[in-house]
Amino acid sequence: MQERVFNFNPGPSTLPLEVLQQAQSELLNYKGTGMSILEISHRAPEFEEIVTQTEALFKELAGVGDDYRVLFFQGGASQQFALIPLNFLGTNKSADYVITGSFGEKAYKEAKKIGKVNVVATTAAVGHKRIPEQAELKLTKDAAYVHITTNNTIYGTQWHYIPETNGVPLVADMSSDILSRPLDYSKFDLIYAGAQKNLGPSGVVLVMVHKKMLERVNPDLPTIFSYETFAKNNSLYNTPPTFGIYMLKLVLEWIKKFGGLTAVAEHNQAKAALLYDVIDEDDFYHGHAEAPSRSYMNVTFRLANAELEKTFLQEAEAQGIYGIKGHRSVGGIRASIYNAMSLAGCEKLATFMRDFRKRNG
Ligand SMILES: Cc1ncc(COP(=O)(O)O)c(C=O)c1O
Repeated sequence: MQERVFNFNPGPSTLPLEVLQQAQSELLNYKGTGMSILEISHRAPEFEEIVTQTEALFKELAGVGDDYRVLFFQGGASQQFALIPLNFLGTNKSADYVITGSFGEKAYKEAKKIGKVNVVATTAAVGHKRIPEQAELKLTKDAAYVHITTNNTIYGTQWHYIPETNGVPLVADMSSDILSRPLDYSKFDLIYAGAQKNLGPSGVVLVMVHKKMLERVNPDLPTIFSYETFAKNNSLYNTPPTFGIYMLKLVLEWIKKFGGLTAVAEHNQAKAALLYDVIDEDDFYHGHAEAPSRSYMNVTFRLANAELEKTFLQEAEAQGIYGIKGHRSVGGIRASIYNAMSLAGCEKLATFMRDFRKRNG
């Protein structure tokens, strides 16, 4: 393979070329230490500085102040499915879950093992092709928290409003749309995201948590499962995923240079529009998500039959369009167009889609 392909994988996924190049240029000797960032101690001042700067940079981009902490975990977003109820559910309250896809369902199932949970809305009956409206959420008055999944990676739907929870803490899995658009992050009490889509490589999970939540942490948990441990120790209680955090910092710097979340969102909307326009032109491609719930991150659609989809995938790959096979539970095609995907990549896919339709329609 001589050239880089257009990589539409859902995660791990494409990273900004500049970020990869910077990591490459610093790989053997990080800032004159004579060591790679992969080899440096997590207790070294150079690494502690990376953690501090990454926290500050995330807060700056998200537009939140010192009432929040930004922490770095391992264990994937899936581990957060368990840590959230372990830390916050307690025995005399219940938690509300809105299920808009497979990951929300998994989060709910984990919480159910730990305490009392309510499904306050689910879109399972309609194949998770839309996001429920506020009026459909049957929220519990004094719940410990409300959990949502802001972007549904598999189904290609995205919340385009922040639900009103009337004082109940709002917790969100933002794995597949974090920092992809301006959003009032201060409306959330805890958000988490596996880095491998919009933030960096796999192996590191970012958690942004309001300090008032840290006061509610269950004190009886094993040390390593407590958010308080991570907050008190600046994510350095034990050896963190050092390379992942370093990469995450480079990606945040790239987002800032790009112009921040407003510029990133304009870019993402333009990319998504290229693909949705082709889908909407006629009936050759069938979008999975209902139009008002469509995701700017994962564009999901089907063709007339599995045979045609197989040919579509093969021909796309031959043209350097990679990673667009839909998730096994939905089938069809999914183009994941996270922040680092270029407009050129989406133009190439849109052109290919029109050309394929002309030849097969
Ligand atoms: C929205 C969402 N939540 C959670 C996960 C699970 O993340 P992990 O594999 O890091 O546990 C994914 C993975 O694709 C995801 O898209």
